[in-house]
Amino acid sequence: MTIDCEALAENPSVASPYDLLFQALVLIPISHYFFLALFTSLAFLYSFLEIHFLHHLRTLFRGDPVTLTYNSSSNLCQSLVANCTILRGRYSATPWLSSPHLQTAFLSLFGRAPPVSYRRELFLALDGGTIALDWLTYSDAAVKHDKTPIVIVIPGLTSDSSSAYVKHLAFNMAKNGWNVVVSNHRGLGGVSLTSDCFYNAGWTEDLRKIIDHIHCEYPEAPLFAVGTSIGANILVKYLGEDKTNTHLVGAAAICSPWDLLMCDRFINRRPAQKIYDRVLTLGLQGYAQLHKSILSRLADWEHIEKSSSVREFDNHATRVLGKFETVDTFYRRSSSINHVEHVSVPLLCISAFDDPVCTSEAIPWDECRVNENIILATTQHGGHLAFYEGVTASSLW
Ligand SMILES: *[C@@H]1O[C@H](CO)[C@@H](O)[C@H](O)[C@H]1NC(C)=O
Ligand SMILES: *[C@@H]1O[C@H](CO)[C@@H](O)[C@H](O)[C@H]1NC(C)=O
Repeated sequence: MTIDCEALAENPSVASPYDLLFQALVLIPISHYFFLALFTSLAFLYSFLEIHFLHHLRTLFRGDPVTLTYNSSSNLCQSLVANCTILRGRYSATPWLSSPHLQTAFLSLFGRAPPVSYRRELFLALDGGTIALDWLTYSDAAVKHDKTPIVIVIPGLTSDSSSAYVKHLAFNMAKNGWNVVVSNHRGLGGVSLTSDCFYNAGWTEDLRKIIDHIHCEYPEAPLFAVGTSIGANILVKYLGEDKTNTHLVGAAAICSPWDLLMCDRFINRRPAQKIYDRVLTLGLQGYAQLHKSILSRLADWEHIEKSSSVREFDNHATRVLGKFETVDTFYRRSSSINHVEHVSVPLLCISAFDDPVCTSEAIPWDECRVNENIILATTQHGGHLAFYEGVTASSLW
């Protein structure tokens, strides 16, 4: 069809271009519109959920190699890499969980945790606080002069020994013949707060005391620690603070936030991250609710209840309880990134590039490369603490 533009301009009653366009659009079958809408929403969902199924398909579901960052002159790192095949391998996410958000949501909604039952020990801190230690021992009783390695697991923010990822970790390490103890944060794991002291992301004193206590009880067992998320931040900060002055012989930090200030900015940036912010806030408020009687005496309960972000919660609760001037001061002083250079025991760090909570922007590449005790393993995918693998998603990488 050719349109005589001059004729159109002289005689507008023939048809305006918009009328013509409208008539043309009406001629398109409605089903085509439907497919277009479907395709657009699928494309939107694909990018919003950061799905990487097509990438997965391209690698023939073999996933991506694990990236290792370490000081090449470090003998320790070299022998670790040589002996540890999993670090030289690839991580391939469960195909139907090809998205950091699906991975992380699946972990918190379903978890698929293995059956784990703990033996509880209550540890009393000097200030009167109670810490619940949940033991999962390889043989039924850990004996005093046992040389079986013990690994202390430090859970993330508001998580405890019943969280799915903690159970996965504990179960697998116990299956490999180690004794495992989950060191629940104060006020978690079903115990009440028995003093006015709360834990926070930079509170290393409890971990220090727990390590000394366990070493005292089992002096011949090599002691290790694994921290996850906020627990990893606490662990790395502790290692940097105490340098060689620790009973730990090795440690691992999984999905550490590294820099709390950067993570705070990150989690407030995009709509997808704001959902996590909201979920984490609800978790914190749930924790606060458990200890309302103490909290409402020490801080402003009304504001805690009304907080709609982690930052607001930290401003009204954590900052006040930890006696920090501002929230940012709390974040800056509590970040483990300031302590990475002083870590003096072998430390394996694992982070996922697509972690939707602890952003990869905060990973201290340079500091890890300089410190001969640290080996940093990063995966392209895995979400926050999820790392599901296999078609059935029954195990974590
Ligand atoms: C790695 O393997 C070698 C030889 O197999 C062994 O001598 C060395 O102790 C191992 N290193 C570590 C860190 O396990
Ligand atoms: C490796 O460690 C040594 C000794 O600590 C240091 O001098 C060197 O700069 C480090 N290498 C890199 C690439 O940072």
